[in-house]
Amino acid sequence: MFPVERGHVKRLGADDALALQALLERCRDFLELTHEAPRPGAAREFLNNLPNGKTLEDKFVLGLYAEGADELAGVIDIVRHWPIRDEWIIGTFLLEPTRRNTGLGASVHRDLEQWVRGQGATGLRLVVQVQNPAGLRFWQRQGYAITGQTVQRTHVRENIIHLLRKPLDT
Ligand SMILES: CC(C)(COP(=O)(O)OP(=O)(O)OC[C@H]1O[C@@H](n2cnc3c(N)ncnc32)[C@H](O)[C@@H]1OP(=O)(O)O)[C@@H](O)C(=O)NCCC(=O)NCCS
Repeated sequence: MFPVERGHVKRLGADDALALQALLERCRDFLELTHEAPRPGAAREFLNNLPNGKTLEDKFVLGLYAEGADELAGVIDIVRHWPIRDEWIIGTFLLEPTRRNTGLGASVHRDLEQWVRGQGATGLRLVVQVQNPAGLRFWQRQGYAITGQTVQRTHVRENIIHLLRKPLDT
């Protein structure tokens, strides 16, 4: 996919569901904070969920592998051309707890941004739940600004979310 400093990235598919399920279970803290504890089948859902009107061709589920480790260190999902052409949206950016707070997230985001710029993107978008202030700080440090707030309704809860965007046209 694209090079990362301390490992490699692979596009995940149905064959990786077991490894992704194990990662989601190790990331229970984040899933409980924002949605619900990982259920059996959470990985399959993660691989197949799509915004309205998109197909799996436009969605990249990227597995992050740290140097010298077989287990997934993190996962990113990103959809191109949503909500409009040349805007890309990060659905999830999740590192496993033991990999956080060492600069890996910032470094992988830089590499992701470079790849997306190379694909002609004009902006990167994402959302952060208000109950995740550390996540919000992280994104603001990566150059994202809040553009609005809305309510996110899942089948188990409602979240108030910040909408964020980073322009890539400079
Ligand atoms: C957010 C995340 C991708 C950042 O990657 P990272 O490698 O830990 O980040 P860095 O080491 O480059 O920077 C550290 C910053 O990450 C953020 N961060 C660290 N742990 C976090 C956690 N458990 N939850 C949310 N953000 C966290 C904080 O902003 C921290 O800075 P601080 O000192 O101001 O608290 C990673 O911590 C993570 O996967 N967190 C859980 C999932 C999450 O919240 N994702 C973002 C959702 S929108």
